[in-house]
Amino acid sequence: MTRRAAIALALALGCGGGDDPIEPGGFIALTDDFRDFRAWPRRAVGEGELGEHPEGPRYVYANQAPPPAGEPYPVGTILVHAIEQTDDPMTWELFAMAKRGSGYNAAGAVGWEFFHLEFSVRGVPVIASRGLNPTVLRTYAGVGPITQGSGCNRCHAAPDAALHDSILSPLHRPGAAR
Ligand code: HEC
Repeated sequence: MTRRAAIALALALGCGGGDDPIEPGGFIALTDDFRDFRAWPRRAVGEGELGEHPEGPRYVYANQAPPPAGEPYPVGTILVHAIEQTDDPMTWELFAMAKRGSGYNAAGAVGWEFFHLEFSVRGVPVIASRGLNPTVLRTYAGVGPITQGSGCNRCHAAPDAALHDSILSPLHRPGAAR
């Protein structure tokens, strides 16, 4: 896929699925914004079972260090949650949150847009689905489709998550060590 086609696809996906209208001033993440995520600081966040996620060691890549306690991440922040079952990135499950701001997701993880990413055959991360409730229909290791998209807000907008800017990993909450 050419870069132009990839951007067009990302924009088309962004307008589908009953998504909110794009508000001026918000950060609209495009494919290029995720391209280098593997070069961002990575922290291991666990490997036990985590409801509805496939098993495997989990990592978070972040393009911003955690803000001071009580402060939200700035607009433009991207966090990628990768479940790395093997060393082959093509097998990873990739979820992401981007701080879009402008009142986006006001009834859920305030300001955050959710993403499901996949690697293209050339190894470039592309946006497979995005919005308030991205669908995740990839077959994992022949086990069948994963439908985690039944609600990122369910966990990320839980009442106590709101105290931490909707971040669930203690290593990435506002106030965590940088
Ligand atoms: C069953 C609860 C649950 C659901 C549903 C869920 N997550 Fe998470 N998510 C977690 C937990 C717990 C963490 C903390 C890191 C870890 O333990 O792996 C996390 C971490 C993350 C992170 C790293 C930032 C952070 O909060 O720590 C991103 C990005 C993320 N999830 C994206 C998504 C997306 C996108 C969806 C929907 C497609 C989603 N999550 C649905 C439980 C959930």
